Amino acid sequence: MSTPTPTAALLAEIEEIGRDPERGGYSRPGFAAAELTLRDWFVDHARRRGLDVEIDADGVVWAWWLPADGTRHGAIGTGSHLDSVPGGGAYDGPLGVVSALRAMDLLRARIDRPARPLVLMVLPEEEGSRFGVPCLGSRLLTGELTATRARSLVARDGVPFDEALRSAGLDPEVVGARPEALAGLAAFLELHVEQGRGLADLDRPVALGRSILAHGRWRLEIRGRGDHAGSTLMEDRADPVLVAADVVRAVRAAASRVPGARGTVGRIEVVPGGTNVIASRVLLWFDLRHAEEGVVRDLVEEIIAAASSAAEAEGCGIALSEESFSPEVVFDAALRERLGTLLPQAPVLDTGAGHDAGVLAAAIPTGMLFVRNPTGTSHAPDEVTSDEDAEAGSEALAHVLEDLLAHGLRPPTPTRP
Ligand code: GLV
Ligand code: MN
Ligand code: MN
Repeated sequence: MSTPTPTAALLAEIEEIGRDPERGGYSRPGFAAAELTLRDWFVDHARRRGLDVEIDADGVVWAWWLPADGTRHGAIGTGSHLDSVPGGGAYDGPLGVVSALRAMDLLRARIDRPARPLVLMVLPEEEGSRFGVPCLGSRLLTGELTATRARSLVARDGVPFDEALRSAGLDPEVVGARPEALAGLAAFLELHVEQGRGLADLDRPVALGRSILAHGRWRLEIRGRGDHAGSTLMEDRADPVLVAADVVRAVRAAASRVPGARGTVGRIEVVPGGTNVIASRVLLWFDLRHAEEGVVRDLVEEIIAAASSAAEAEGCGIALSEESFSPEVVFDAALRERLGTLLPQAPVLDTGAGHDAGVLAAAIPTGMLFVRNPTGTSHAPDEVTSDEDAEAGSEALAHVLEDLLAHGLRPPTPTRP
C-alpha cells in the first residue's frame, strides 16, 4: 500500500469520528458530540503547531500564526467547517480544515514567520443540520443572525440553542456579532471539495470559485385531523400527508420550469407517524436556489399557492416560515483575479452550494478553492476526492496564502526590465 499524502493522513485521523451506521456516511451536527470531538482534534493540532488558539463567543475557533510584531490586524483567514449534513460525506467541511493545517505546515517549511497574521478558522454548524440555519457561525459573526434569533432556535433533537452552547462550554449570554474580529480580517479563503463534476469533466485538480446561487430554506407546517386508518371513511379525512405529496410535486414542477433553478424537499416529518394512523400534522422543509433572488422568491410564491389549494381541497391548514435566505454571492473580483494569476491552470466555477465564505463575503473579501470530486456527489457518502488531489489542493492553498501573507491584498508591482 502506498503511503498516504500528508493531507490524506490528517483526514485519516478523523475518519471514524461521527460515522453514522444507520444512514451511512457521517452525521456530525453542530455543537453535538462528534463535531465537538473534531473541534478538540483541530485545537490539539493547532496547539501542537504553536498556534495561539481562541474560541470566540459564537463558537468560532481562531488559531493564529502571528508575525514578529504580534499584530492580529490585517489577517488572512482560511478554514471551513467540521459539522456535516445527516449521512454526509467525509470531505464537505473537513477537507478545508485539514488543508488549512497542511498549508500552514508547507508555509512553515518556507518561511520562519509570516509578514501578516495567518488565522486558521473553524466555523460551527455550517450545514444548519441541527438548528435549521446554515452557516450559523459566520452569520453570528457578521450579525446577519441576531443573538435574539439564535437564542430562540431549538435543535432538531429538541435541545434549545442556549443549552447546546452551554454544553459546548460557551456562554449564550455573550453570543452575537463581532465586528472588531471581522475588521481584523483582510480576507478569507475557503478550500472545499467540489460538489459537482466541473473539475472531473475538465480534468483539473483545483478550481477557483466565482459565485454561489441565491438560496433559502422554508418550513411548511400542514395541519390536518388525526384519526383511525381503519374506521375513517376516505371522504371524511383531512390528511396532511396527501397535501405534502402535492407540495413535493409542486416543488419539483416549479423548479423544473425555470432554467438554472433547483428545488428540493429533503426532510418530511409525519406526526405522530404510525402506519395505522391518519396523521394530524406534517412538517416539510423545502430548499430553493437560483442565481436571481427574485426568481427564488417567485418560486416560493408559486409553491405556496399550490400548497394552499391542495390544503383547501383536503380540509387542512398550512403555515410557512422562512428558516434562512442567502442572496447570490459573487466573490471579490480583485481577489479572484489575483488567485487566478497565482493559479493560472485553475478553472473558475460557479456553485449551487452555500458556504461560510459566501456569508463572510458580505463583510470582507473572500474567495474559494474547489478540489476535484470524481463522483460529483456531495451531501452523501459517495462524495470523494483522491489523496493526490487533496494534496494538490493544500499546495495550491499554501501557494496563494504565501503570496497574500507576503504582499497583503495589494498585488506586487511588476518590476520593469
Ligand atoms: C450547504 O452545503 C448547502 O449548500 O446547503
Ligand atoms: Mn455542505
Ligand atoms: Mn461545506
